[in-house]
Amino acid sequence: MRARLDDLARAAIADHGALGAYSCYDLATADAIIGGAERAGLPVVLLVPPVVAGRERGAALISALRGMADAASVAVCVQLDHATDGDLIVRSVAAGADAVLVDGSALSTAENAAFVAEMRSRLPHHTVIEAELGALAGDEDRAVALDADASAFTDPAEAGRFVAQSGAQLLAVSIGNVHGSYRGAPRIEHDRLARIQQATEVPLVLHGASGISTADLRAAAARGVGKVNINTELRGRLLDAVSAALAPARLAGDDVATLTAAAAEAVSAFVAESLTALRTPHLSTPSGAH
Ligand code: 13P
Repeated sequence: MRARLDDLARAAIADHGALGAYSCYDLATADAIIGGAERAGLPVVLLVPPVVAGRERGAALISALRGMADAASVAVCVQLDHATDGDLIVRSVAAGADAVLVDGSALSTAENAAFVAEMRSRLPHHTVIEAELGALAGDEDRAVALDADASAFTDPAEAGRFVAQSGAQLLAVSIGNVHGSYRGAPRIEHDRLARIQQATEVPLVLHGASGISTADLRAAAARGVGKVNINTELRGRLLDAVSAALAPARLAGDDVATLTAAAAEAVSAFVAESLTALRTPHLSTPSGAH
């Protein structure tokens, strides 16, 4: 079923938790992500990477995802992730994406806000817009080990004005998180997050959640993070399952059905487990494990 992304993120925060958002590169993975959310009985976000949305049949894939989302027994949002191309954003929303990360994080703060505001004026009013202030190091589609020094951290002093000027309905923050894998343990700056939360009223978003401990994610949820984005960890689970099932599938007469079922089960199990971990009842007490 459908629901607004900002509403779901606010509901998660009110419930002392966060919403899980997972990247999907194909329909089978999306189907398994929805299966995991239904297993957990919790809402979920299907993130569509721009490399997928920009393919020849990218718009058709987004329409198919929206159809699968509508048929689900839990609320499912379809969000175009990390989009820098205005025309791709407009096409993806027309195809069925109900939310977009309008990503101006590589621009100056003023240009970033202007880009988000421009996209606001080009999109239907019901489209939910996330913006990113500060920039995360790393690759969104491939894992490279990094530490957060390569990122530009979000400046809490800019956050309130940026949200007001851009019209963003969710704000992605850079507080020690990176895309991909972490070199050493992640060092999430919870004090910086608390100052950003004080300066803004919109739900905050933590990208690069793969590799961040559940304790850190819970502490972030207690400080206004209503959505966390997960890709690297999901890709790892999927590829591990495919690797383990590949040789037996070849031996069994090229049994693709068993191989794809193993991949789907690995994705569903991971999503159900991580959604549940993000939404346990005692999230209001930061563990201090940071
Ligand atoms: P990870 O690949 O580090 O989990 O980041 C995912 C993400 O932020 C997608 O937007």
